[in-house]
Amino acid sequence: MAEMRVLTAELQPEAGAALKKALGMTAADVVFEVRESGMKGRGGAGFPTGIKWNLAGAASGADKMVICNADEGEPGTFKDRLLLEKYSMQLLEGMTIAGYAIGSSKGIIYLRAEYPYLVPAIMKARQDLIDRKLMGHFILGGNFTFDVEVRLGAGAYVCGEETSLIESLEGKRGEPRNKPPFPVNSGYLGRPTIVNNVETFVNVPHIILNGSDWYRGLGIGENTGTKLFSVSGDVEKPGVYELQMGSTIGELLDLAGAEDVQAVQVGGASGITITAGELERTLSFDDLPPGGSVIVFDRSRDMMDVLENFLEFFVHESCGQCTPCREGNVRLLDVTRSIRDGRIASREELKDFFMLAEIMKLGSKCGLGQTSPNCFVDIVTKLAELPGGKGGI
Ligand SMILES: Cc1cc2nc3c(=O)[nH]c(=O)nc-3n(C[C@H](O)[C@H](O)[C@H](O)COP(=O)(O)O)c2cc1C
Ligand code: SF4
Repeated sequence: MAEMRVLTAELQPEAGAALKKALGMTAADVVFEVRESGMKGRGGAGFPTGIKWNLAGAASGADKMVICNADEGEPGTFKDRLLLEKYSMQLLEGMTIAGYAIGSSKGIIYLRAEYPYLVPAIMKARQDLIDRKLMGHFILGGNFTFDVEVRLGAGAYVCGEETSLIESLEGKRGEPRNKPPFPVNSGYLGRPTIVNNVETFVNVPHIILNGSDWYRGLGIGENTGTKLFSVSGDVEKPGVYELQMGSTIGELLDLAGAEDVQAVQVGGASGITITAGELERTLSFDDLPPGGSVIVFDRSRDMMDVLENFLEFFVHESCGQCTPCREGNVRLLDVTRSIRDGRIASREELKDFFMLAEIMKLGSKCGLGQTSPNCFVDIVTKLAELPGGKGGI
């Protein structure tokens, strides 16, 4: 499958063209077009965007909210930064179209704490759009009004989870909420709220301008459109690559110039670890969920050091609200150090820890604790030096 540039193409649609088209449609038709495109959210969880918008549009409650998740905290991810740097007009246009679609006049961009230098560029794009009557009061002379503000996070990974993000925006400690209610019914200040990733919003003007059939023509089956991947680690050309959904990991690594691959971490620390024998696997929600971060490790790397590093991250970032995540990550880190230092006498000793990993996946309240054991299971199963040989558990 060939490399395909849509979001990152040099020639971008004229600012406002998609918004003009959307405002000529009913709000329900805009939601329908996005739903028909089959686009799934680009923040990692892959929830269908059109369905989320439909639910928020149908929810009862005043002052609906459009929130852009620009927290970008997953280790190894930097594709949203590129979009914010170079394509903020399209992001704002996508948010404005979302506002029209769900009946909202207010958007917030929740920006990663480490990206404050991007605020002036985003605010300049906002002012340009206001000057051209594409944002603000009475957009294009009609009745629709929409504006955005930027709020900075404070550096917590868990605040990328949409309900912690909302808590943080409300000025509270950033901890995940119980669901239901879901944000589409009761989100920011109890208002119906959509939270979408930067890349999700940037896709919207393209879908509206070119139509859902065109979008469905990109990708494979129900994995429609293109996807951005932040590639880092042991590659010749680290950077952001845009491929059709359903491309293989091998195709992506060829573009980035990876050699002597030992393992690839797909989807960040909370994603899936694959080995050199699995490069035919596809970047799609049916196989390797394409969160955006792809970290390559060549054979010079000690994967137990990598695992220790990931688990230290999770221990540090767990909000501590629920026991499987708060205690489980500490236990997995302890046993990882034991394996690395050769203090595991038999493979039998590890059984309890694989069971703990399952309990964490099932019993944790949010995606952090539900996914943090993935790297432990994958790396120990496939790559760890254990009594009797490598991996093979
Ligand atoms: C611990 C954790 C961190 C997350 N970090 C981000 C993030 O930085 N950016 C993001 O868009 N989604 C992140 N998510 C996913 C969000 O909860 C949510 O699914 C997403 O913003 C929805 O947008 P989308 O449907 O457009 O993907 C995170 C989830 C978890 C559990
Ligand atoms: S899974 Fe972890 S991060 Fe999520 S609520 Fe529980 S303790 Fe907090």
